[in-house]
Amino acid sequence: MGDPLLLERSREVTRFGTAELDALLTDMLDTMEALNGAGLAAPQIGVLLRVVIFGVKRNPRYPDAEEVPYTVLINPELRPLGEDMEEGWEGCLSVPGMRGLVPRYRRVSYRGSDQYGSPIERDVTRFHARVVQHECDHLDGILYPMRMPDLRNFGFTEVLFPGEAPIEE
Ligand code: NI
Repeated sequence: MGDPLLLERSREVTRFGTAELDALLTDMLDTMEALNGAGLAAPQIGVLLRVVIFGVKRNPRYPDAEEVPYTVLINPELRPLGEDMEEGWEGCLSVPGMRGLVPRYRRVSYRGSDQYGSPIERDVTRFHARVVQHECDHLDGILYPMRMPDLRNFGFTEVLFPGEAPIEE
C-alpha cells in the first residue's frame, strides 16, 4: 500500500494461452502460496492486467472459511445477487500485518475466462463471494481499507487475533 500502481485500473487481457500469461500465473501462484494468501491480483506484483487467482483449502483453524476451488479468473465481471451485505475480517498481501472489517455483498455472480480463454460463470456466496470481490477490487485500484465504513475496526493482526496465522487476500 502506497505504491501508486495499486490505485490504477488494470487493462483487459486480449491474448490467451500465451507463454507470458503462463509465466505471470506461475509467479502469482508462487507469491500467493509463499505468503499464505487466499487470493492475489496481478497488480499486486506490479502487472496491470485484469488477472486474479484465488483458492482456499479447508482448514479446521478457520471454520468460517469454507473451501474455495483454485481459480484463475481473467477479465472478470461481478454482479451482486440481491442487496444483502455482510461484514467480515479481511487481510491483504499489499497491506501486510493488518486486518479490517469490510462489508461485502453476500451473494455475487461472476464471469470471466480462464488462462486459455474458456468461459467461467459462477454464482457464489459468503467467503467465496468475499474473496472474489476483494480480488476484483484490486483491478480497479481499490484496496479493502477504502471499503471500510469504520476505521476503528482496522488494526494489527497480532493485536486483533493474537496467535493466529491469518488468511490474507
Ligand atoms: Ni488484497
